[in-house]
Amino acid sequence: MTTVEAVLREDPSQGDGVFIDANSLQACAEPTDNQALLGWVREIARLTQPDEVVWCDGSQAEYDRLCAQMVATGTLIRLNPDLRPGSFLARSAPTDVARVESRTFIASHRREDAGPTNNWREPEALREELHGVFAGSMRGRTMYVVPFSMGPVGGPISQLGVQITDSPYAVVSMRIMTRMGAQALAAIGEDTPWVPAVHSVGYPLIDAIGRARPEVPWPCNDLKYIAHFPETREIWSYGSGYGGNALLGKKCFALRIASVMARDEGWLAEHMLVLKVTSPQQRVFHLAAAFPSACGKTNLAMLRPTLPGWRVETIGDDIAWMRPAPDGTLRAINPEAGFFGVAPGTGASTNPTAMQMLRENVIFTNVALTDDGDVWWEGMTDEPPAHLVDWQGRDWTPDSPGPAAHPNARFTVSAAQCPTITDLDEPAGVPIDAILFGGRRRTNVPLVAQAGDWGQGVFMGAAISSEQTATAEGTVGQLRHDPFAMLPFTGYNMGDYFAHWLSMSERVEHLPEIFAVNWFRRGDDGRFLWPGFGENCRVIDWICRRLTRTAGAQSTPVGLVPLPDGLNLAGLDVPAGDLNDLFAVDPRSWLTEVDALGTYFARFGDRLPRPIKDNLDSLRARLMA
Ligand code: GTP
Ligand code: SPV
Ligand code: MN
Repeated sequence: MTTVEAVLREDPSQGDGVFIDANSLQACAEPTDNQALLGWVREIARLTQPDEVVWCDGSQAEYDRLCAQMVATGTLIRLNPDLRPGSFLARSAPTDVARVESRTFIASHRREDAGPTNNWREPEALREELHGVFAGSMRGRTMYVVPFSMGPVGGPISQLGVQITDSPYAVVSMRIMTRMGAQALAAIGEDTPWVPAVHSVGYPLIDAIGRARPEVPWPCNDLKYIAHFPETREIWSYGSGYGGNALLGKKCFALRIASVMARDEGWLAEHMLVLKVTSPQQRVFHLAAAFPSACGKTNLAMLRPTLPGWRVETIGDDIAWMRPAPDGTLRAINPEAGFFGVAPGTGASTNPTAMQMLRENVIFTNVALTDDGDVWWEGMTDEPPAHLVDWQGRDWTPDSPGPAAHPNARFTVSAAQCPTITDLDEPAGVPIDAILFGGRRRTNVPLVAQAGDWGQGVFMGAAISSEQTATAEGTVGQLRHDPFAMLPFTGYNMGDYFAHWLSMSERVEHLPEIFAVNWFRRGDDGRFLWPGFGENCRVIDWICRRLTRTAGAQSTPVGLVPLPDGLNLAGLDVPAGDLNDLFAVDPRSWLTEVDALGTYFARFGDRLPRPIKDNLDSLRARLMA
């Protein structure tokens, strides 16, 4: 056994790692004899010059040790064990609170393979730049080697990766979010493909001439790179310790790199939740839904139906990998093992399932701290506590100017703790019956509309626009095109991605039905027209009845919508006027939207597939009729 523990027993003075001399890296404990992996780890260590290299085994003991170490350095605050057992609060640097889309790069040999929606870089030039910033970036730190599997280890849809990181916060987060450690490492044979992912927060504790500087609670760097090499399937992330910038299995691997694998191999890697619905008649349906960041995936995945007899179970809340299966269905897995969910807006009335899930063993980031050592965020309770410490460590009262929790504050929790989790370890996935596309739209987009065929459904995905949220830089509330909710996550030309979606009609015999939904439409007075959350089961009910052909529909220019009394609204008080407004299709404002879409699609030039253009033209014609 060459684990860290074995070495620790020999030398208890060595903290939680194995000390190595940067020039004699063979000295570290290497729990694999995979030469390609060993060569890469040694090469990265030579480049980044850490004090020590630790191979993570994914054990509870390792997790506990790293958390205790982060409590000592001030990165984590242990929450009151009576109120929130096994849980911690992290406060990030105020400059490192979300994904950085402006510093997210796709490096392909030809610019057009990254396409007009990505920041393209020439691979060799970017590689040189990265070698410059990574040189010595881990001085004075521990370099962790984190083997992980996206999806059940060894599963037919699963993929392997190894993240190197100098952030213990990233290590413990990866243990929650992926199948991390010894089992994943053991699955990486000499001929097994695996994705190398290098991460450094870019805050060495010793500079090039040997001067030390003190540790800070949240090390990071103002200069950031979230870099992807889809042609060699590599990830390099520098300067950030937060979320999708740092937990490289998530957006970098499971979406940007995996979308390229999926294109090449005939499957789909999507920004989608996956859920299982059981009707009162005990019929089972599986739904996948793509909504942009902070637009309701976690909420829908954990929906508690208000209609009697319905049951919703959770499979995933952020990412779906979907493959054509031999039985003619499209089968999905959630490649993750945990949830990195938006805290603000999560409360007993909006998502009671999540509140139950968050009772213990949670890492919270950028939420507020209560005086008794628990957490709070906007929307957790109707009344805020009289006093809090805000996400930046400052005193906060209800009169304070800003929110107590950052709008992109998050919880990191094992999916196993979700009371409604199901089929997470089903390696072959579940057959998808319907796909939903949605966004945050105060106007135009109806509560629900069904596509007439696959082509129109793909057009609906391509046509998503959504009001921006605090999940990345940019202006909150500003409408932007976000095709398939994949704008920040597609690792290749978006026009080719549309074509790939269209091609699924030739690969999948039992194609899912496609629907567009919008929980966020508002009245002239600014209020939401639809109660949302648990009440969204009424839309799910209609969708499932469409799947079994037991609900009618009427045509509108933008798709098939429920008949006047088609939605089950029993026990719900939605004014008739609001219901009307929820489904209103105003040809004038829709024609403006069609024009904007036309301009947007024109950016893809000859990479825009003909059926997308044709669907736009026929939508325009229907609106003008
Ligand atoms: P990422 O993790 O960023 O990919 O996003 P997500 O889609 O999982 O986001 P999440 O479900 O956590 O979205 C949270 C935000 O959506 C909060 O502001 C919620 O209040 C809001 N939200 C979710 N469902 C509904 C709904 O049915 N109606 C309304 N009005 N708001 C909702
Ligand atoms: C998103 O922004 O869509 C997220 C959060 O799911 S992060 O992992 O930070 O990208
Ligand atoms: Mn997401």
